[in-house]
Amino acid sequence: MIRIGVLASGRGSNFQSIIDGIKEGDIDGEIVVLITDKENAGAIERAEKNGIASEVVLRKNFESREHMDKEIRRILDEKKVDLVVLAGYMRIISPELLGPYENRIINIHPALLPSFPGTNGAKDAFEHGVKVSGCTVHFVDGGMDTGPIIEQTCVRIDDCKTPEEVAAKILPFEHATMRKVVANFSKGKYLIEGRRVRYERQKD
Ligand code: GAR
Repeated sequence: MIRIGVLASGRGSNFQSIIDGIKEGDIDGEIVVLITDKENAGAIERAEKNGIASEVVLRKNFESREHMDKEIRRILDEKKVDLVVLAGYMRIISPELLGPYENRIINIHPALLPSFPGTNGAKDAFEHGVKVSGCTVHFVDGGMDTGPIIEQTCVRIDDCKTPEEVAAKILPFEHATMRKVVANFSKGKYLIEGRRVRYERQKD
């Protein structure tokens, strides 16, 4: 049983996919806290509905990004979190948080990295005119979507007429990919060998 902390900035549909994965028995874990950097994040309501503790940590209340991340670290430590999931969390993580949680922070990105990193993955892929895009779950390092890749799912987007259509088409695949990776974390371990990530299931 792993203790999961989720960081989200928005509506929280990826957060929901973890909640559902736990409820339906795929993930052997518990979400012990939701942390959000937005007072009105939809994720907060999802936490309330599911009896999950939530904390709002606003950038404006701290003198620097590092101070903000120290507070996030304090909360994660207090909750004894094993795995930190960035589920639509739109900030770079500073060393104050990365250091103590090295190789225990993962992120979902709406494109096939290393193509189209950043906050507009789906839109950038659409504008570039790629025929196939998708989503990536990766370990978080100090860069912008640069950490070792854990899992990817391809999605054809050549039938999409707007960036919004691309994002909407990829989203359900994000949910499935996120849920699968978190389930795997709960039942084994991902080993990082250079840039390559290998999964080892624990023997029952
Ligand atoms: C998702 O599409 C996620 O991949 C993206 O934000 C959305 C959040 O949706 N994240 C990034 O772009 C990170 N760079 P959600 O709040 O419904 O999970």
